[in-house]
Amino acid sequence: MAFLKHFVSIRIFRSGMFFCLIILLFCVNLFSTQNVAYFEIPHQKDPKTIAIIGAGAGGSSAAYWISEAFANSSTSVKTTVYEQLPQVGGRALVYNYTRDNTQIFIELGASLFIDVNYHMTNSAKKFGLEFINYGEELPNAKVGIWDGNQFVFEQSSSSYWDISKLIWKYGWAPIKVQRLVKFIISKYLKTYEFKEPFTSVNLEAERLQLDLERKFTAQYYFSELKNINQLYLQHLVEPMSRVNYGQNLGEIHALGAFISLAPTGAKSIKGGNYRLFEKFIEHSGATLKLDTKVIKVTKLQTINGVEESVKYKKFSGIEFENIYLEMKEIPYVTLHVTFVTGRLNPSYFNRTKVEDFPNQILTTNSGKTEFLSLAAKIILENGETLNKIFSHDEMSDEVLDRIFSERSWTFRKVWKSYPMLMPNQTFPPIEPDTNFYYVNSYEPLISTMETECVSSNNIAKLLANRWISINL
Ligand SMILES: Cc1cc2nc3c(=O)[nH]c(=O)nc-3n(C[C@H](O)[C@H](O)[C@H](O)COP(=O)(O)OP(=O)(O)OC[C@H]3O[C@@H](n4cnc5c(N)ncnc54)[C@H](O)[C@@H]3O)c2cc1C
Ligand SMILES: *[C@@H]1O[C@H](CO)[C@@H](O)[C@H](O)[C@H]1NC(C)=O
Ligand SMILES: *[C@@H]1O[C@H](CO)[C@@H](O)[C@H](O)[C@H]1NC(C)=O
Ligand SMILES: *[C@@H]1O[C@H](CO)[C@@H](O)[C@H](O)[C@H]1NC(C)=O
Ligand SMILES: *[C@@H]1O[C@H](CO)[C@@H](O)[C@H](O)[C@H]1NC(C)=O
Repeated sequence: MAFLKHFVSIRIFRSGMFFCLIILLFCVNLFSTQNVAYFEIPHQKDPKTIAIIGAGAGGSSAAYWISEAFANSSTSVKTTVYEQLPQVGGRALVYNYTRDNTQIFIELGASLFIDVNYHMTNSAKKFGLEFINYGEELPNAKVGIWDGNQFVFEQSSSSYWDISKLIWKYGWAPIKVQRLVKFIISKYLKTYEFKEPFTSVNLEAERLQLDLERKFTAQYYFSELKNINQLYLQHLVEPMSRVNYGQNLGEIHALGAFISLAPTGAKSIKGGNYRLFEKFIEHSGATLKLDTKVIKVTKLQTINGVEESVKYKKFSGIEFENIYLEMKEIPYVTLHVTFVTGRLNPSYFNRTKVEDFPNQILTTNSGKTEFLSLAAKIILENGETLNKIFSHDEMSDEVLDRIFSERSWTFRKVWKSYPMLMPNQTFPPIEPDTNFYYVNSYEPLISTMETECVSSNNIAKLLANRWISINL
């Protein structure tokens, strides 16, 4: 009988400003020397050695769930997290804004989660982190929906008045949509009750009975299947999918639109959402290697001491040798985030004065808007506001000079922000090769910090099922 042993070698280079949106989980045995690390894939060896690439929501929570899953078992695990950047958090990143007596950590990427995001909220409480409620820093936040010519909806100071206005204008659509959102979210929450892990993202969508919601565009789903008033979709539903996912109703699957409509009880972690991901790693006991980029992963297949090189593939900027990766790259949305401190120019919005003007501006898909959203975050001592703008294209100085009458500071950041949430797409496998897991396979279904935690939690369960039963 041939003695079969699998080896993986990973070469790790220090630093490098490479931007990438992947977390991959490897279950391997590690020996390391300076810049080059070698991994051996064991089957029964103790301790089990795990490498995690990326310290965002997915990778950091994976380290934590794995440590929990094996905490009281006879199998011991040793986990290393590799992160190319100098900090933990990935797309949860803050900008430290300091001026005069104002200091605020503004989220540059993922900003919100909701009460029923149980992994995020419960873990934050467990780790003693504080929450801030969305909008807490700007008490007079008012939403307006801009179509490029006018505001098609403006929030007033009375929610009763707003609801009556909506019903008068759009009939029962607001109530029908609200009921649907509740229903879909309640279906999603079953994911926390299932004991058995899922082995594919498709199967999970089926198990949650959310298959229809991922098969159809939000446009078709709402207007054809649910008979929702088209004007309401344009004026109040689509602006939400645009601000949350940078996608219109004709592009995004219905589930993506539902997630965009869900934010009630929206909150973030005080000081920055990344702090939760730091805590996950801290409490996992994993070794964290920052400024460390994984550039290549090789599984050496030695049969009777003879090495065989089989396959080679580049995925998400990493070279993979001898690892079965029959999957396509996930296409991501390019999103420009621009911070501006200054004063809005009312005439850009066809108004004469700024007072009583919506400061949380969402947009319709009219083809006439120059941004996806523009929201004031705080008011500075001198009356200027600090604004956050999302757009598909760069916000040039020329455009900003029309939107703002005065501008004291501008900061730009480009992200590959979230996957295109396309209907009927084939999700990448959760375990493309043995003991090789892909956390972000879940992201084209729902892209949020919470669901990356759901995905990594599921992988920790899969691993525990495999490794703990082996040892029994
Ligand atoms: C502008 C913006 C707004 C968003 N708003 C929200 C929101 O309000 N709420 C919400 O829940 N979600 C939001 N999201 C989505 C959310 O950020 C993501 O779904 C989630 O954070 C993804 O986590 P992740 O760990 O899967 O990936 P990432 O956070 O991208 O983490 C991947 C990590 O891997 C590292 N890495 C990649 N390749 C390598 C390598 N070769 N070697 C070493 N390290 C590597 C990267 O540096 C990165 O740190 C938003 C995203 C953006 C950009
Ligand atoms: C491990 O067992 C102890 C004692 O029964 C318990 O208090 C603890 O919560 C368990 N840990 C985990 C992660 O299950
Ligand atoms: C934020 O910036 C201020 C001023 O530059 C600095 O004093 C403070 O230490 C910074 N905080 C963090 C957490 O980086
Ligand atoms: C501004 O509003 C006026 C009347 O309310 C309208 O006639 C005009 O077309 C609007 N201008 C723009 C640029 O939308
Ligand atoms: C997705 O596939 C289903 C059949 O499974 C089909 O009815 C539906 O129209 C497809 N959706 C889109 C947007 O093509």
